[in-house]
Amino acid sequence: MRQDTIVILDLGSTENTVLAREIRALGVYSEIYAHDITKEELTAIPNVKGVILFGGENRVVDGVAIDVSPELYETGLPFMAIDHAPAKCSETYANWEEAQPQLKAFVFDTCKAEANWNMENFIADQVELIRNQVGDRKVLLALSGGVDSSVVAALLIKAIGKQLVCVHVNHGLMRKGESESVIEVFRNQMDANLIYVDATERYLTKLEGVADPEQKRKIIGAEFIRIFEEEARKLDGIDFLGQGTIYPDIIESGTKTAKMVKSHHNVGGLPEDLQFELVEPLKQLFKDEVRACGVALGLPESMVYRQPFPGPGLGVRCLGAITRDRLEAVRESDAILREEFEKAGLNRKVWQYFTIVPDFKSVGVRDNARCFDYPVIIRAVNTIDAMTASIERLDWDVLAKITDRILKEVKNVNRVCYDVSPKPTATIEWE
Ligand code: XMP
Repeated sequence: MRQDTIVILDLGSTENTVLAREIRALGVYSEIYAHDITKEELTAIPNVKGVILFGGENRVVDGVAIDVSPELYETGLPFMAIDHAPAKCSETYANWEEAQPQLKAFVFDTCKAEANWNMENFIADQVELIRNQVGDRKVLLALSGGVDSSVVAALLIKAIGKQLVCVHVNHGLMRKGESESVIEVFRNQMDANLIYVDATERYLTKLEGVADPEQKRKIIGAEFIRIFEEEARKLDGIDFLGQGTIYPDIIESGTKTAKMVKSHHNVGGLPEDLQFELVEPLKQLFKDEVRACGVALGLPESMVYRQPFPGPGLGVRCLGAITRDRLEAVRESDAILREEFEKAGLNRKVWQYFTIVPDFKSVGVRDNARCFDYPVIIRAVNTIDAMTASIERLDWDVLAKITDRILKEVKNVNRVCYDVSPKPTATIEWE
């Protein structure tokens, strides 16, 4: 292993990730572990150079104040404690504001850690770890084309080449050109073992007449598991499942001191006899680090800096019961919006932008005749964590250009609206 590590033990602070990020910003790798880590587990962490105990408001769990095992101090590692004052700790600070100015000295002078946390070393370490874990066996990966699955695919290809089997399921709700770009990048450029499943007809049939958004989501999710399972059963000798789990997924799934925010999307959906051992090489990375990893692995920027795209895809932007004409209108208008945002330099500035086509029509006039067509709604929002969002104050000329193109180029559309609602009260998506 090439990188030194500072371990943070979670004693209930809500700022553990802030601390981990600060240490990583110093060029030193840092990872958060549960407070009840054993001495053996701690010393087994490669190149561990020091430990920080970070106490906090969630220190009492089920009525009992938690602490680390005293035997950890026998490791001889330097310990810093923040908002926690065990007698055996070399440095203690009442809170983060006092501790913070001392952090650099603790990391470099006391722990003697080296600033060797960079993408090159991370990738080299992970390649080694993946090869050790997998040996000459095979890994299966659901490759949606999203940032996390694309980066994990690229990393696995580098480590084990054709021992990785990627499955890309096109559910027919992808954006324009998206499945094609997955095939181009992974099959043609990276020479990956890629199985492409065009399930468009199957999905559209299943979704026919289904108007309730949650029902649509359920069908889309369940059908994905079914297709993935069918493909997995056709393959022989697969022992591992690759997953693009990243650090926020783990944190949001709840630690021993933090409440669960949402359940982590894991293999729970697959049947018992199809349970695999997991390979999750990105699970310690924050999103920006995942992107940096993707760039270092040679993935195109358009893939690595892709805006968030919901799992159910355009299915929740073609409102109500999905029809082919409206789905096409969403896909084409979305492509125009993305093209024009890129031309205006807004693609790296605005967090998420897309179009929606509702399931009602309005009266308009085209070629001097009455027309009765769908509206297209444009949504462009900025947010930090998607819990709240503000709207992008779009330049009027850009908006006019997009409107003009949508009205000229997209079939069955006679009106364009701009959604100016923040979250709350609106959500980012319309369904
Ligand atoms: P809302 O609409 O809840 O969206 O404000 C917040 C963020 O989550 C995305 N989103 C989803 N992502 N599956 C996903 O993977 C979903 O069912 C889903 N629904 C919303 C949305 O695009 C936004 O980024």
